[in-house]
Amino acid sequence: MRIAAVRGHAPAITMLDERRAVCHNARMTIPLRQLGQSDLWISPVALGCWPLAGITSGAMSDEAAVAVMDAALAAGVNHLDTAYAYGRNGESERRIARAVRNRREQVVLATKVGIYWDQDGGLQRTGRPGLLRRHFEESCRRLEVEQVDLLYLHAPAEDAPLAETAGFFREVLAEGKTRAVGVSNLTVEQLEAFAAECPIAACQVRYNRLQREIEADVLPWCRARGVSVVAYEPLALGLLTGKFTRDHVFAEDDWRCRSPLFAGQAWLDNLDEVQRLRGRAAASGHSLAQWAVGWTITRPGVTVALCGAKRPDQIRETAQAMFLAETWQDRGD
Ligand SMILES: NC(=O)c1ccc[n+]([C@@H]2O[C@H](COP(=O)([O-])OP(=O)(O)OC[C@H]3O[C@@H](n4cnc5c(N)ncnc54)[C@H](OP(=O)(O)O)[C@@H]3O)[C@@H](O)[C@H]2O)c1
Repeated sequence: MRIAAVRGHAPAITMLDERRAVCHNARMTIPLRQLGQSDLWISPVALGCWPLAGITSGAMSDEAAVAVMDAALAAGVNHLDTAYAYGRNGESERRIARAVRNRREQVVLATKVGIYWDQDGGLQRTGRPGLLRRHFEESCRRLEVEQVDLLYLHAPAEDAPLAETAGFFREVLAEGKTRAVGVSNLTVEQLEAFAAECPIAACQVRYNRLQREIEADVLPWCRARGVSVVAYEPLALGLLTGKFTRDHVFAEDDWRCRSPLFAGQAWLDNLDEVQRLRGRAAASGHSLAQWAVGWTITRPGVTVALCGAKRPDQIRETAQAMFLAETWQDRGD
């Protein structure tokens, strides 16, 4: 067994094989996985910090957001995922700065540029290097860091050729302002074009037991190239916790009202499927939320699930899934 001192957790980590390791701290042994070919090692469950901006389902205070991050780190999570656009005024990034101020070394920090709020409160995309740089510099100021660990292109845009956009990421990597580059929401064709200009460590995409579109193309592309798949919405926005019923009434400003998962016949079909999955989760002795995250992080090619949370108990529950992965018994599809 090799011992390596690798960024991503303050103590040294023990390698299990080429892509898996464990990190020992005073309380527990945390499984870690290598992000692509980078020198970053991350826990298979990460905290997705979009809900911490207070837009998705009701407001969020600074204190409440910090409490969620405290709970995540205490549960063994070492990776926080945010974006320039998470909050109309960077609330998610500012709250992360507050939470990790005295423990930056313990956290692998990812942010994204390429989506921003315009003056009318609408979300816009850009791939223009000048604007991406301005947004990245602002992200660093909000996060109170000189360098991030992982910088993503949030989504493809039509205002610049993808090769130029990728050139910006190649420059930031060469400048040492990020340790690795990721992309999000790209097609395979776009992944090819980006990878021709800049090495990709991580590909962030929607993936959960109810939404498996990436299995047709993006997932095999990433597996073949050693690019980590970083799964977002592993809980299908909370649907895969099993807490919703047919008569649930969502608040008007609940972000879920925009998702096809919660509309029309699909909503009813999804509830039926959740009911079936509840049985599988119970057979494995775990909550449905843990089972759903466990399912995601045990799919070959998937490195990490980004679990969103609005309360400490939510991430405490889902973080447990990373300890299931090693002993995962459910061989069903
Ligand atoms: N790259 C992209 O384009 C992109 C897009 C979307 C997301 N992401 C990333 O992926 C992360 C995850 O996505 P997400 O946060 O939108 O969705 P998610 O992880 O599927 O669902 C998160 C929501 O489910 C509920 N929840 C979580 N744990 C729970 C538990 N144990 N019991 C009951 N309810 C629970 C919470 O909402 P309530 O309490 O309100 O029910 C929470 O905000 C984001 O935070 C973000 O970092 C990236």
